[in-house]
Amino acid sequence: MPSIDKIKTILVIGAGTMGHGITELAAIAGYKVYIADINNEIIKSGLEKIKWSLSKLHEKGSLKESVDSVMSRIIPVVNTDSQGNFTKDFENAIKDSDMFIEAIPERLDLKQNLFKFIDKNRKADTIMATNTSSLPITEIAAATSAPELVVGMHFFNPPPLMPLVEIIKGEKTSDETVSVTYQIAKNFGKQPVIVKKDVPGFIANRVLARFLNTACWLAYKGFYSTLEIDSAVRYGLNFPMGAFELADYSGIDVFYFVNKAMIERGFKMKHCPLFEQKFNAKELGMKTGKGFYEYPKPGAYVRPQIPKELANKVDPVLLLAPAVNEGAWLLENDVATKEDIDKAVMLGLGWPKGLFEFADDFGIDKINTALKQLKDLLGDQDFEPTKMLKDMESKNELGRKTGKGFYEYKKIEEVSKKTILIKYEKPIAWIVLNRPNRLNAISPDMIKELGEALDELELNDDIRVLIITGAGRAFSAGADVTAFAGITPMQAAIFSKKFQELTLKMEFYAKPIIIAINGYALGGGLELSMSGDIRIASENALLGQPEINLGFIPGAGGTQRLPRLVGRGQSKLLIFTGDNISAKDAYALKLIDKVVPPERLEQEARDLALKISEKPPLALMAAKLAIEQGLESNIWAGLNLEANLFGLLFSTEDVAEGVTAFLEKKKPSFKGK
Ligand code: NAI
Repeated sequence: MPSIDKIKTILVIGAGTMGHGITELAAIAGYKVYIADINNEIIKSGLEKIKWSLSKLHEKGSLKESVDSVMSRIIPVVNTDSQGNFTKDFENAIKDSDMFIEAIPERLDLKQNLFKFIDKNRKADTIMATNTSSLPITEIAAATSAPELVVGMHFFNPPPLMPLVEIIKGEKTSDETVSVTYQIAKNFGKQPVIVKKDVPGFIANRVLARFLNTACWLAYKGFYSTLEIDSAVRYGLNFPMGAFELADYSGIDVFYFVNKAMIERGFKMKHCPLFEQKFNAKELGMKTGKGFYEYPKPGAYVRPQIPKELANKVDPVLLLAPAVNEGAWLLENDVATKEDIDKAVMLGLGWPKGLFEFADDFGIDKINTALKQLKDLLGDQDFEPTKMLKDMESKNELGRKTGKGFYEYKKIEEVSKKTILIKYEKPIAWIVLNRPNRLNAISPDMIKELGEALDELELNDDIRVLIITGAGRAFSAGADVTAFAGITPMQAAIFSKKFQELTLKMEFYAKPIIIAINGYALGGGLELSMSGDIRIASENALLGQPEINLGFIPGAGGTQRLPRLVGRGQSKLLIFTGDNISAKDAYALKLIDKVVPPERLEQEARDLALKISEKPPLALMAAKLAIEQGLESNIWAGLNLEANLFGLLFSTEDVAEGVTAFLEKKKPSFKGK
C-alpha cells in the first residue's frame, strides 16, 4: 500500500512547460527529484527556467532556502537514446524513486509506453501519477500491472503559481493512492480537489468549456459581439479576463484540442464553429499576433481594450447558466463535492466566486430560465437543465433569496419600521425606504428612523456594508411635500437641519454605504443618495432637483454636494431648471457610478457589497474618512490625515493578516481588529 512516509524521491518525466514547474515544486518541498526528458538540451532549458523562478521567489522572500540548495536536490536524467529506447540511467532513476509524475505530450500511445516501462522497473507500491488534461486515467493505467497505483494529478499552468491540482481517480485507482497523492499536492503547497470519477475534462476544463462555448455560440450567431460578451465577463462577472480575451491569451488551439478531446470521449457539447474557423485560419490569439483581438506582433501581449460601458448589453446569467448546469451534472453524478467544484473554478479558472455561489446569488429559477432562453436562441444543444436544477426549482430552493440553494443561508431577518424596512443579510444590511404608495417620500419620521437604523447598524459587528434602496418603483421622489403645508420658516429650517444631519451621518459613517437607485431619485431622494459612498442606478432611474418648481431650493445638501459631484455649471443647470435626467446622463455627469438593467440592480448592489465586505473594515473606514475629510480641507491637511491613518492601520491585526495572506497566497480573513 502506498504511504506518504515512504516518499522521499520523486521522478518527474517531461521537462517541458508543466514538467519543469512540477519539478520546482517538488524540490522546494524538500524532495529529491529526478527530471527526465528525451535530451540534455531540453533538460538544461528546464533547469534554467527553474533556477530563474527560484531566484524570483528568493528575492520576494517567499523562498527562504538558497537557490543552489534547492537546485542541488534536482537530478537530470536523459531518458531515451538515439534510437528512442529508454536509457539505463532512466531505469536506475525509476528504481531509486518512490513516486512518478508524468508530464510528456498528450498522446495516449506515448504515455502508455512510458507507464509500461516505469511499471516494469519500479519499486513496490509506488504511485504513478499523470498530468494529462484530457486522456482517461483508466486507459493510461491499463498499460500497467497495477492500475490501483495510477492516478491523475492535474496541475494548472504555471504550476508554481496556480494553486489548484485536480486529483483524479481512475476506475481502479485505490483510495490510498488518491489520499497519498492528495497529501503530496498539499506538501507541494497546492490546494488539491478530488475528482472521484474519470470523466473527460475533470472539473475545471468541463466548466470552462461550457462557459467558453456558450460565449462563442452567442457571438457566432450574432446575438452579441465578442466585445460585448467580454465586457460583461470582465466587468459584470468580474472575471480576470473576458471569454475571448482568455481564449486569445491561452491559445485558441489549446481550447480547440481540449474540447475536441473531451467531445470525442463523450462530453456532450456542440463545438462552436467560430473557434474552428480561427483555428483553421491559424489565428490562434496572442501567439500568432491575431485571434479575436489583434496584437503588435506574434507573442507580444498587450491587454485588449474592452469598453466598460458595453458590460450591460449581455445578461451574465446567460453566459454562466450552462456552466452551472455542468456543475450540477458533476454533483448529480457524484464526480466531486460542491465545495471542491467551487474551489476548482476559483483556483483553477480565477473566477471571483464559486460556480454554485454564483448560481445561488443569481437564483436557480433564473439559471433554468436562462437555459431555456439559450435553447430558444441556439437550438437544441444540451441546454436541458439537469434533474438537480429542476428539482431545486420545484422545491423552491432558489438560492440566497429563499435561504437555501446549493448552500444554506441564514434566514434573512427583516425588521419593519413605520417608514423603512431593515433586512439583515450578513455581512450586509439593506435599508429599504418603504412607503411605496408615496414613492418613498421622505417624512420627518423617515429621517428619524433612518438615523436610528444607521446608529444601530454602525455598532453591529455582523454587518460590514449597507445598501440603501427603495421599495416599489422609486428610490425616493423627494421630501414629503404634504409635511410642508402650513409650516413656519423656522420649522422648515429645522426640517432641513435634521435632514442635513442625516446626510452628514452617512458621509462620515464607519461603514461603506451603497445606494441602489431603483427608480426616481428626486429632490431629497437625490440628496440622500449623494451622501452614500457609491451609487448604482437602474437604467430606468430618473434623477433631479425639482425644488425650484415649488418655489424653494434643495435643503438637504443638494446645493453643496451636487456641485462637488458634477461641477458648478451642471449643478446650476439642474437646480435652476428643475429638470430630471436619465441614469445614463447622470452616469456621464459622474453623479452616479454605475448603470445596470433594472432586473440586475439588486444583484449588482449585493455583489459589490459582498466584495467590499471581505475587505478590512478599519482600512475601509480610514479610506472613507481620508477621502471625505480630505476633499473638504486642503491637500496638506488631507495628506497629513492620510499619513496618520496609514500609520494607525499598522497597529491593527488586519494588516498582519493581509500581509501574511499575501505572502502565503491565501485569501485573507479580516476581523476588523
Ligand atoms: P510540453 O510539450 O511543453 O512538454 C512535454 C515534454 O515532454 C517535452 O519537453 C518533450 O521533449 C518531453 N517528452 C516527450 N516524450 C517524452 C518521453 N518519452 N519521455 C520523457 N520526456 C518526453 O508539454 P506540456 O504543456 O508540459 O504538457 C505535458 C502534459 O501536461 C500533457 O499531458 C498536457 O496535456 C498536460 N497539461 C498541460 C498544461 C498546459 O497548460 N500546458 C496544463 C495541464 C496539463
